[in-house]
Amino acid sequence: MNKLVDARYGYSRRRLLQAFGASAVTALSIPLLGRPALAQPLFMNYPFQLGVAAGDPVADGFVIWTRLAPEPLAIGHGMPAQPVDVSWEVAADAGFKTIARKGTAIARPELGHSVHVEVAGLEPARPYWYRFQAGSERSLTGRARTTPPIGSRLDKVRFGVAGCQHYEQGLFTAHRNLAAEELDFVFFYGDYIYEGRGNRVWNGPNGPVENVRQYASQEIYSLDDYRRRYAQHKMDADLQAAHASAAWFVVWDDHETDNNWVSELDQDGTPANVFALRRQAAVQAFYENMPLRPTAFPVGAAMQLYRSATFGDLLDLSILDTRQYRSDQPCGDKWGAVCDTLDRADADVLGARQEAWALGRLSSSKARWKTFAQQVMMMDLDRDPGPAYVVNPDSWAGYRTPRNRLLGQIDRRKLSNVVVLTGDEHQNYAGELHLDGRNPGRRPIAAEFVTTSISSGGDGIEQRPDMAAIQAVNAQLKFNNAQRGYLVCDVTPERWVSDFKVLDRVTDRNGTLRSRAKLAVAAGDPRVVAA
Ligand SMILES: [Fe+2]
Repeated sequence: MNKLVDARYGYSRRRLLQAFGASAVTALSIPLLGRPALAQPLFMNYPFQLGVAAGDPVADGFVIWTRLAPEPLAIGHGMPAQPVDVSWEVAADAGFKTIARKGTAIARPELGHSVHVEVAGLEPARPYWYRFQAGSERSLTGRARTTPPIGSRLDKVRFGVAGCQHYEQGLFTAHRNLAAEELDFVFFYGDYIYEGRGNRVWNGPNGPVENVRQYASQEIYSLDDYRRRYAQHKMDADLQAAHASAAWFVVWDDHETDNNWVSELDQDGTPANVFALRRQAAVQAFYENMPLRPTAFPVGAAMQLYRSATFGDLLDLSILDTRQYRSDQPCGDKWGAVCDTLDRADADVLGARQEAWALGRLSSSKARWKTFAQQVMMMDLDRDPGPAYVVNPDSWAGYRTPRNRLLGQIDRRKLSNVVVLTGDEHQNYAGELHLDGRNPGRRPIAAEFVTTSISSGGDGIEQRPDMAAIQAVNAQLKFNNAQRGYLVCDVTPERWVSDFKVLDRVTDRNGTLRSRAKLAVAAGDPRVVAA
């Protein structure tokens, strides 16, 4: 037997090192009984390589997240198959001189050694700084703001909107810039990862384009696959900077699981019970890697993701999940001439429960601005400049019955100051919502701002070739641009201003950011106008 035998366990440190690989963790103080967490692990590689994050802020706290992964891309992420203690601190200052809250969480192997700490008891409407420690290793520092108390008078909120970060198609320069914006929070509308296999080249608008970097595997199906895909994204320092700069409200769209999935259906006709296994892996990995509260803890293939957030008396967010409860896309999910299933009476985007919740919040909200923060476009744009009427069947335009229920309620109740925030399209759009975009009413029902992508689609262009003609046949569409970037919303009681920030390129490190356009909505007037 090896000389390094630990008499308490009959297990050698050398064998531990062999078992856990180069970044082995070993325990210096394991109590004798039970299976307690490793309190003083030693790491041969830095265990906080995936960064830190905060999410879902309320007036007295937020959730803070990290995940121990000394070997991020290895199966088992370089950790022992054992729970490990992670201590955390939340401070009132960046130097951690005044500790407001602290404690210890357990990073469990069942959850990919992630921790989700719900911090409470903090003061409202102010910044805090947080960090973690495992053994003698300390994480980087993150910052998050608590919200103003619900109903309190609030003059201003400033937040970011981002999503769609294809790792291969562009660098995350937009996140580096987002991190410098001094935001109260970020809404992330989904496509945090993409599920496809690694590719060296892709078919860009002007011919083959070489990707700036590559996914490390083929298409992802298993929990280990999804964990590694998240790890590859999360090792990006620009993305880490954006997480560390503000608390995020994250939701998923389709690519966290599979392209254009809805409910129990994928696009390939996989049997529902088989696809549920993939969903279960995807849902677990999403939870493990996101700063979500334990209310979102996966239950099989399901997750409670829709939720609300309120900022004083100024802004009410209803954060929607348009994937999990949706009925199948109409028209075979193919773009083409209008098909009769667009009007299916039993179609659903939100599902009955979420829809009732969303409509109830619309009616009961006392905030000045009522916002749906969600995934797919609500404008029913005609995507064909010719005589045919073509909609994106994966957007709300493919689901006229539930779309009209939602917009009809706003219209009938004469609710004002409703703004919809959207992603998915990999283009920027600003426009107005009507029951029927082809026959708009005199007054729009609400405004919609669609944010482009962080990197998906590569460098992008000012406007896609067919878009000027498409804009000409869609009076409700006020702005379109196809570059990469994010949105910053500056909201006051009088006015909502959406600043579309775009990069000239994302395929090298020197991309420069500019404000491409500022579009505004005045309180009481849903028209989208230049700011
Ligand atoms: Fe996307």
